[in-house]
Amino acid sequence: MKVLVCGGAGYIGSHVVREMVRSSQHKVVVLDLLAATHGHKSHIETGVPLEVGDVRDEAFLERVFSEHKPDAVIHMCAWLSVPESVREPLAYFDNNVVGTLRVLQAMKNHGCKQIVFSSTAALFGTPESTPIKPDARKAPESPYGDTKFAAELMINACETAYGIRGVHLRYFNACGAHVDGDIGETHDPETHLIPLVLQVALGQRDHIKIFGTDYATPDGTCVRDYVHVTDLSTAHIQALDYLEKGGKTDAFNLGLADGFSVKEVIESCRKVTGHPIPAVLAPRREGDPPILVASGEKAKSILGWKPQFDTIEKIIETAWKFHVSHPKGYKC
Ligand code: NAD
Ligand code: UFG
Repeated sequence: MKVLVCGGAGYIGSHVVREMVRSSQHKVVVLDLLAATHGHKSHIETGVPLEVGDVRDEAFLERVFSEHKPDAVIHMCAWLSVPESVREPLAYFDNNVVGTLRVLQAMKNHGCKQIVFSSTAALFGTPESTPIKPDARKAPESPYGDTKFAAELMINACETAYGIRGVHLRYFNACGAHVDGDIGETHDPETHLIPLVLQVALGQRDHIKIFGTDYATPDGTCVRDYVHVTDLSTAHIQALDYLEKGGKTDAFNLGLADGFSVKEVIESCRKVTGHPIPAVLAPRREGDPPILVASGEKAKSILGWKPQFDTIEKIIETAWKFHVSHPKGYKC
């Protein structure tokens, strides 16, 4: 299939595109605003066409769809910081909800019937039980989670109405870097735990702040399910295969059913880097549920997903390799 990867220049997108180019028959076109990477294109796979623009720009999308005629879309464009979404909800609804609306309108207009959507654990809020199954109650605790839930509902409604089928891939905490060490996690500003901790090990920060030490978790800090970005990437190819074979709209949680607290992640980073990584206790960050751990069983049984990076140390080792060789992200 010809697949338009919207947001394909981002952290997860660049890994998805690499997996598609190296391990699938699909033809890839990347669409991206280049917002997260500030225009640095070194991480985009050689030979893959790049359309620079905004998915909210209808005329731009119209041109891209007319020119490339994609059979499927992977929609990864979004703003994605939970705390920022609490401060700037309208910017989040604009990009994450209006952006998805525009993509679906263009798909409808051009007869493109398959979409793989980057969804998130954040739409579950504080779960009733753990590990979280895909059909668990949805109760987002941040505007970010609200926007992703709204986008899922929009995609669901397009199946009956327009025959557009979608797969929602709800990533839990995406992390790590490609084993080659040349692409990895870099957001600007960075808000994610592992890259921030590794910046301390690189001497770029004095300490890491631990946001909240009074949660109802074993050590009082938030627990997350950290899943390697290459494992997430293979799930996208499997989701495309599922849709190509006629699969109905459905949702899958992508996580390892294994949770690590903020303190445990910092300790693992100390082991991998050999740096003492000073940590400072700080107040809770708004919008953070205490525990988010996924059941990935449905993805395994229906999509055939087989995550390879099964320990937090293995994941952090790949992230560290990238950070050591790219201390300023893609700016160096
Ligand atoms: P990222 O910021 O690195 O990538 C997103 C890409 O989308 C960027 O390159 C950005 O320039 C582009 N983009 C954003 N808005 C756009 C627009 N309106 N038009 C065109 N391009 C636009 O983020 P990421 O970590 O790679 O996340 C990718 C997706 O995965 C997002 O949808 C995010 O919500 C979702 N997700 C991420 C995580 C995580 O832990 N990183 C977890 C769950 C879900
Ligand atoms: N944290 C700290 N100190 C920091 C940064 C983060 O203690 O300096 C804590 C957070 O409070 C949270 C945990 O580390 O408890 C993980 O935070 P991240 O910002 O790395 O990730 P989030 O869990 O907030 O969110 C990420 C993605 C979302 C996705 C979610 C799914 O950014 O898109 O994982 O679990 F929805």
